[in-house]
Amino acid sequence: MSYKMFRERFIVKLKMLVKCTIFATGILIAGFANFSVLNALEEQEEPQHIDLKTQRRQALLLEQQRQQAEIKSRAQLLQIQKALSRNDYALTGALLKETVGKGLTIAQVRKVAKKCNSKSLLRALDATKAIVEDKELNKERIRIHFTRGEFLQIALFIENDLPWHVQRGRQYLCKKQTNLPCDLEYDPQTKKAFIVFNQHPHTYVGAGSNKIVSKAMLYDQKRPKMVARALQTEKKKNEMLVSQALRGSPGVFEIIACTKYEQSGEKYRTIYSKLYKTGSFYDALHKHQFSLYEKAQMALTLIIGVDELHKRKFTHRDISTRNCLIEIPPGLPGKRDIKIGLADLGRSEHIFSGDIDLSKKVQGHSLYNPPEGIFREDIKKKDFLRADVFAMGCVLYELFYGRLPGWHQDKYFRKVGGSESKRYRGLMEKIKSETRKQRNALLAKKASKATTPQEDFEYLILRMVHHNKLKRGNSGELRWEMEQIFNKIRSQK
Ligand SMILES: Nc1ncnc2c1ncn2[C@@H]1O[C@H](COP(=O)(O)OP(=O)(O)OP(=O)(O)O)[C@@H](O)[C@H]1O
Ligand SMILES: [Mg+2]
Repeated sequence: MSYKMFRERFIVKLKMLVKCTIFATGILIAGFANFSVLNALEEQEEPQHIDLKTQRRQALLLEQQRQQAEIKSRAQLLQIQKALSRNDYALTGALLKETVGKGLTIAQVRKVAKKCNSKSLLRALDATKAIVEDKELNKERIRIHFTRGEFLQIALFIENDLPWHVQRGRQYLCKKQTNLPCDLEYDPQTKKAFIVFNQHPHTYVGAGSNKIVSKAMLYDQKRPKMVARALQTEKKKNEMLVSQALRGSPGVFEIIACTKYEQSGEKYRTIYSKLYKTGSFYDALHKHQFSLYEKAQMALTLIIGVDELHKRKFTHRDISTRNCLIEIPPGLPGKRDIKIGLADLGRSEHIFSGDIDLSKKVQGHSLYNPPEGIFREDIKKKDFLRADVFAMGCVLYELFYGRLPGWHQDKYFRKVGGSESKRYRGLMEKIKSETRKQRNALLAKKASKATTPQEDFEYLILRMVHHNKLKRGNSGELRWEMEQIFNKIRSQK
């Protein structure tokens, strides 16, 4: 084919393509215009239609439905009233579960409860109202697919039937026994009842080597709340004992109740504690910024926690950022009321009990062990307390500087790192090289009373991680010093 012929054919094809495109665009525009006109017409016609006929029909239908619902709820209320006047609380509970929130309101049931003078139903209604009115708790209730009716049924059981079971020594009631939507647990010591949401995926909080932690609800007529329920998977004989002894101590995580129960021949031990919404300090440290005031406040609280244990001659033996619990409310750094506490008392021991297994690590988490902890057989009773101070020093080091201590390296703590003495020498040198210069500089400044409260705070931490166990200070001294530092930082805030 010659060039001229090729050019002519190409021009003909191009013309055809242009024509087709113009035609298709025309059809699209016409279609769209048509659609818009039709739409506009429909929009004009619709309201007239609804106004005249449908609206009246709809109103009539709604009125019929309202009347039917009223008849139905009146019948339901009558049924509840009958059951209640026969003192048939099991039936009352079952009826409430099916009707409240699905037609019947709490206010309607309250009227019936008043008529029948049922104090337990009135209290159960108060508790249900408290949940529904608490925004956060109500959100949790919905998340775990827990209806208002179900809660009211459980509340009524707790108010009316639980004491009868408790008198007969039944403190853990599983749902098969009660026909309730979940298990219940009662602690006779604190007289507190807990609603246990067994194995619900949305209630998982965390797990460690010895526990599974999930959310449970502390039942209270006025202020029910979500708490953490730590179920021991491995028997830790001291954890319950130490937790009981430290319940209510400042600086230690808020322990609400410690319970024991037996089920199908298995023994269970549970610790109920405040639910620290942020979780472990380990998780929080790298996600949040803290002001100096907040850092000082957290440090003081944790040192107080160590001192509360040591005052009672308990050693913690497992201090690490993972074993401190924290709750950081929303807000800007420096303006928040942060809650923190020393937790996980699973390795705690009384230093004079003679039960401490010297073949085990001085601190549960290897990286938090002091140099002297490498020679386990030489450890004396008081060394456990000094090792706690060192480990807490490591936690505070991370908090203060925002980075891990340089000596947190496996090679110093694992056998693969060489002989004990080689690892000991290496660790001592590493700690010295990272802390000694700054500590001495601060010490010189302190001697001339020229340090700022922030520098005093830094010096206290560097003292706690001293390579020489005798120079770390004891928890009582450190607590007193940190209190002074905190007061100065607070006054500058
Ligand atoms: N009260 C609580 N509030 C929020 N989270 C919690 C609470 N108690 C425990 N947790 C979470 O569960 C995890 C495990 O708890 P804990 O450290 O007590 O168990 P453990 O089995 O003794 O752990 P370890 O492995 O240290 O021995 C914690 O690291 C934390 O994330
Ligand atoms: Mg732990």
